[in-house]
Amino acid sequence: MSANPLGTPGTGVIVTGGASGIGAGICTALAEVGRPVAVWDRDADGAARVAAQCRDDHGVAAHVVGVDVTDDDALAGAVAPTVAALGPVGGLVHGAGIVAAALDDVIDVGTWDAVLATHLRAYAFAVRAVLPELRAAGAGSAVVGISSIEGLVGHGAIPSYTAAKHGIIGLTRSLAHRLGPEGVRVNAVCPGYIETPMLAPAIANADARTHLEASIPLGRLGVPGDIARVVRFLLSDESSYMNGAAVVVDGGVTATGGQ
Ligand SMILES: NC(=O)c1ccc[n+]([C@@H]2O[C@H](COP(=O)([O-])OP(=O)(O)OC[C@H]3O[C@@H](n4cnc5c(N)ncnc54)[C@H](O)[C@@H]3O)[C@@H](O)[C@H]2O)c1
Repeated sequence: MSANPLGTPGTGVIVTGGASGIGAGICTALAEVGRPVAVWDRDADGAARVAAQCRDDHGVAAHVVGVDVTDDDALAGAVAPTVAALGPVGGLVHGAGIVAAALDDVIDVGTWDAVLATHLRAYAFAVRAVLPELRAAGAGSAVVGISSIEGLVGHGAIPSYTAAKHGIIGLTRSLAHRLGPEGVRVNAVCPGYIETPMLAPAIANADARTHLEASIPLGRLGVPGDIARVVRFLLSDESSYMNGAAVVVDGGVTATGGQ
């Protein structure tokens, strides 16, 4: 029986934000096709649960690091134990994220710093920390940055988040140019409205949920697996000629202006 092509190369993958929501879905999707995973998240208990599930249900090596991605030294220090546990690491996903609405000030200093540090700065410094391993793992190494539809359009309630998500696409394109010649592909994914703990406050009210669903041509909110399967594809040799793309996975929201 031939190996599942979505599991190629068989190298390990680091997933920041892997303890919850979309990141947890990505860990599961990778484990399903036999790729070892490292769950990097500040929620160490949640990360341990996801890793145990990958190990128990799919028999892959799974490693946990409790790490705050805004701490550069902690990111750098997480690499060696991860490689010791998984073997060669040929994939990195930056999915750790927070969102905070700007209710009073248009630009609130604390929110701006925290959101930019978690999404954009941490993406850059996670790549910086893991790059020697991606290079060493050789052909087929790949990075995926989790952006958003707010990486493509503006949203007035969340200026810092919108700026950070646009930045993730910009950094992805720069890295694709820089690292492509070395065989390391870098792509971004732009999810729409995905049912996770992050979106929960926005859909707690039934009317708000119905209104949101009505704006999605596919007529439903997304689930983590909808995003995870695309990320898994972008990490696999099946997407060998994709580099520098911002892949929209939103049920048709941005294509239709969210009407
Ligand atoms: N849910 C959506 O509708 C949606 C839409 C577009 C983009 N996204 C993006 O997808 C990614 C995952 O979001 P989600 O919806 O799964 O949210 P989530 O809240 O379920 O998961 C986010 C994870 O990031 C971790 N995290 C946050 N700050 C961290 C830090 N400083 N260090 C380490 N870990 C940290 C959290 O502990 C959590 O496990 C985020 O980048 C988010 O912006 C989500």
